[in-house]
Amino acid sequence: MTDILTVTMNPALDVSTSTDKVMDTHKLRCTAPIFHPGGGGINVARVLHRLGGDCLALYLAGGMNGQRLRQLLDQEQVRGHCIAIAGETRESFSAHETSSGRDFRFVLPGPALTPGEWQAGLDYISALGASPPYLVASGGLPPDVPEDFYARLARLAKARGSRVVLDTSGPALAAALAEGVYLVKPSLRELRELTGHPLQTGPDQHAAALQIIRSGQAQVVALSLGEDGALLVTANRALRARSLPVPVASSIGAGDSFVGGLVWALSRHETLEQAFRYGMAAGAAALLAPGTALCQAADVERLHREVLITPA
Ligand SMILES: Nc1ncnc2c1ncn2[C@@H]1O[C@H](COP(=O)(O)OP(=O)(O)OP(=O)(O)O)[C@@H](O)[C@H]1O
Ligand SMILES: [Mg+2]
Repeated sequence: MTDILTVTMNPALDVSTSTDKVMDTHKLRCTAPIFHPGGGGINVARVLHRLGGDCLALYLAGGMNGQRLRQLLDQEQVRGHCIAIAGETRESFSAHETSSGRDFRFVLPGPALTPGEWQAGLDYISALGASPPYLVASGGLPPDVPEDFYARLARLAKARGSRVVLDTSGPALAAALAEGVYLVKPSLRELRELTGHPLQTGPDQHAAALQIIRSGQAQVVALSLGEDGALLVTANRALRARSLPVPVASSIGAGDSFVGGLVWALSRHETLEQAFRYGMAAGAAALLAPGTALCQAADVERLHREVLITPA
């Protein structure tokens, strides 16, 4: 069937542009908009496809934006399965301020889903003939989807023998961890929110990751630390990677690219350390591209050799 299934409950039509300076009240003259299909799992699938991974993106979309999103995914030749919903898929708007290099990101909530719609996502996975070795659940949940949706998904996927990779935040993250997943990729902000601790030092971060593992909530924690790199923790190993010194055009999509690179290598039966290297390379490669453009395969291949990994 497929090596990797990504699930996106709340995809977005990403619209990015740039303007000289962001100010209130004034009309901000912007450059021509660039459209990308977006949302956590969709971005991960786009990265996997670029890297040559065997991947299927499952997503729920509706309305004109949903149609556009579907077309854009098709144009990138990303294999997808769209579950049609009654609501209108959201747009996410980002504006790059050229005078400062900062990105302003406006994230809309997305349409509320009916129980039948979100249940159709679970049913699709239940009905799969063969289970994918990896299932990536990424991004936030739209309104009216129960907080334990990813927990239900994890239960289902685990029972079918898939390894669940999770990248989300807030109550949805906490609930899915209570169920247990294979790998979780919180950012530092997400881990702080989850634990309620500031986690200011490396040892604190390491201990928090280990706590997740010891309590059976995940087998691998990949904690991404933005410009400070990342920490990868399992029950018996901890590795730290320094971020690569690349010019930052935009950090949008770095986390999704990180997950894409990591899961791609895992699906090829690479070691965890090598997968970490690819995750770091993909995250860094995403920084090279402006706006919501993601990493390019050639950059990932080139950069993965430069990743410096040390025991944490
Ligand atoms: N400014 C940066 N400089 C160098 N590397 C970066 C930078 N920002 C991100 N990265 C790389 O991308 C990875 C993922 O970034 P980050 O930790 O910001 O996660 P994220 O999921 O994008 O964050 P969030 O979900 O909180 O928005 C990092 O581990 C790092 O390798
Ligand atoms: Mg993230």
